[in-house]
Amino acid sequence: MTATTAHADPASADKACWDGIDLAALARRVGTPCQVYSASAIRTRIDTLQTSLHGLDAQVCYAAKANSNIAILRLMADAGLGADIVSGGELWRCLRAGIPAGRIAFSGVGKTADEIAGALDAGIARFNLESADELQLLQHVASARSVVAHASVRINPDVDAHTHAKISTGKSENKFGVGIDEAREWFAASPRHRHVQLDGLHVHIGSQMLSLDPIRLALRRVAGFWRELAAAGHTIHSIDVGGGLGVCYRAGHDHPIPINDYVGAIRDTLAGFDGRILLEPGRWLMAEAGALLTRVIRVKQGRQRRFLILDAAMNDLIRPSLYDAWHDIVPLVDDARPLQTYDVVGPVCETGDTFASGRELPECKAGDLVLIKATGAYGASMASTYNSRPLAAEVLLDRGRYAVVRKRQTFEDMVAGEQPADRWETP
Ligand SMILES: Cc1ncc(COP(=O)(O)O)c(C=O)c1O
Repeated sequence: MTATTAHADPASADKACWDGIDLAALARRVGTPCQVYSASAIRTRIDTLQTSLHGLDAQVCYAAKANSNIAILRLMADAGLGADIVSGGELWRCLRAGIPAGRIAFSGVGKTADEIAGALDAGIARFNLESADELQLLQHVASARSVVAHASVRINPDVDAHTHAKISTGKSENKFGVGIDEAREWFAASPRHRHVQLDGLHVHIGSQMLSLDPIRLALRRVAGFWRELAAAGHTIHSIDVGGGLGVCYRAGHDHPIPINDYVGAIRDTLAGFDGRILLEPGRWLMAEAGALLTRVIRVKQGRQRRFLILDAAMNDLIRPSLYDAWHDIVPLVDDARPLQTYDVVGPVCETGDTFASGRELPECKAGDLVLIKATGAYGASMASTYNSRPLAAEVLLDRGRYAVVRKRQTFEDMVAGEQPADRWETP
């Protein structure tokens, strides 16, 4: 619990000090639970990726779903990134944060006519289409506006991403994308769609991938299809390689793919492609740049297990409950304390509200601070107010300064929009 220099890499950060901020002092100022993000760590990731992409015509479109806080999106915009969005809400946030519409790609299997209209009116770069019905709808909405939409086919390459089933998206039984056979028919029929210029390919086979093999396999399938299309006279302006790069949630156990190996696979498989390559990383940019700062409410010795009860819960971070995901947990206490084995839990009334089972940690007591690591992606963006727990504060750290980028919800904020049923109407 010593030095207070700025740290770009959370892994090397002194555990009580991050990006120049003393976390105990921060907890006293903004309260707990709170999501903290290191701007330096995010910028380091962006720079590392951009450096690796040097010489390629590439645009990084940050997957806004990973963390859609306006301040985070603004940081991405300032670094020249675009966005991968999946809803009208994400479009609105990205535009509000200053991401130019011309750098936004719209994915997702359930785009509605209203969402498509909004995205066309905003002038987004392209739509990643996931069904023939959606292609027809885009043609219809674009035609009504007398515009031509750029679109890519999201290819489902039937590749197992070797990740958790719930975040696997590239198998033929998954709801995402279409098979190459169907995509071939779309291109053959493309002259009939006068308001949709089908000139791109897209693929995203899953998230938290720690092996390059499935990525290479999927890219090879897409590249083969691009070559076939090019030979048949179709012009492909962009290939979107999706996101999915895994991160380290468990030190010494998870071994993320080195970024140069990942970009090397893109270079190899898409060699000769002279259009634009789009990338949609979310987790890789954000996860390790965030941590959930929480306080011990009490320690409860059950009949069989010892529970460390935190003031954060599954509503603040659902990944352990939803995916049995591991997060490293670091009590901000003296390492000399003896070790204890805990089930680390929150106050929510579900047995599933468990961050870790049987975890060995330095002994904790009420009032101690605990850091749950690598929560910058799919943490706050998946949060809820379940059990009427207001959304936690979010704080951006940057070289010794901090900014609250989401105020902790008050009870009033939490019920905003709710009202007693005292005005009855008929449709
Ligand atoms: C189409 C698409 N692109 C990109 C991403 C981002 O994935 P990740 O956060 O694993 O990089 C996702 C995540 O589900 C996605 O569905």
